[in-house]
Amino acid sequence: KQNTEKHKVGFSQCISKDDYRKAMDYEMMVEASLHPELELTIFQANGDIEAQKSHIQFMINNDFDVIIISPAQSDPLVEIIETAFNKGIPIIIVDRKINTDKYTAFVGADNMEVGRNAGYFIASSSINNANVLEIRGSGNAFPKMGRHLGFHEVVDNEPNIKVPYSFDVEDFERVSQILDSIHKTPIDYVYAFNDNIAYDAWKVAKEKGVEKRINFIGVDGLSGLDNGIQLVQKGILAATILYPTGGDEAIKIAMKILQDETVLKENILNTTVIDYRNAKIMEKQYERINKHQIDIEKQQSVIRELENTYSTQSNILKWLAGL
Ligand code: FRU
Repeated sequence: KQNTEKHKVGFSQCISKDDYRKAMDYEMMVEASLHPELELTIFQANGDIEAQKSHIQFMINNDFDVIIISPAQSDPLVEIIETAFNKGIPIIIVDRKINTDKYTAFVGADNMEVGRNAGYFIASSSINNANVLEIRGSGNAFPKMGRHLGFHEVVDNEPNIKVPYSFDVEDFERVSQILDSIHKTPIDYVYAFNDNIAYDAWKVAKEKGVEKRINFIGVDGLSGLDNGIQLVQKGILAATILYPTGGDEAIKIAMKILQDETVLKENILNTTVIDYRNAKIMEKQYERINKHQIDIEKQQSVIRELENTYSTQSNILKWLAGL
């Protein structure tokens, strides 16, 4: 590459709209802005697998230097990812895993651990019998599998915890019927595979006036209006399990690859339980990070202005010298 040429890094995002995806994109953009030699392009597939395939194909055809992918599902993208990898393009997989080992690096939290954390939370806060309604995610993705298996690894070994209902979010209307018969089969916990689903279940319970009987647990733990941390602070969720997006780490890994440094194949991010005890601290930490990012952005725009002034000045000097 010529010195003036930028490294092309592309990111194929599977789902576009929810706050989790927006946070992931934002983290990438902020981190990328720290590396002016890197040019980041984000492709939004809006949940359409074919679109995601064609975005990856586009990056292959247009000589992207690194391709980052958060795959919607574990199977359909395997072939195109293997093609790209076999062509020697470094591939970074974020958040959701795929059914092949042909990638350069994976970055994301361990979803089994997420599920176990939800299980430990229930086990440690219930002395009496506890009935759980489990609402899984949709489709066929690794996070869904891990969050289910990890959870059951813990609660299936706790004799006082039962999971009488477990189904995919596509069957969400069942929540209403189940809550109607809460007098017959008590529901003590709802374990939902993300904070949005947990909040939706809480809304149904509130309509029926039974929300106070149930402890709602979600996953993601983002900060912002109606996000996990705020829902915990409002007492709507009993807990959310932190699931970092990995956006900034993905760009850091891309930078290392571009600088010919070795990278780990598996980069596992920490997860933790956020409940009323640490929600405020977590919120403050997010605020600090955000403030830091805003400061960095401000500094960068000052630097850009200085650079502009400098280049105007040096143009004037050159012009004067040429006189
Ligand atoms: C957002 C999301 C998150 C979840 C993640 C799993 O699209 O559903 O809520 O933690 O994807 O991949």
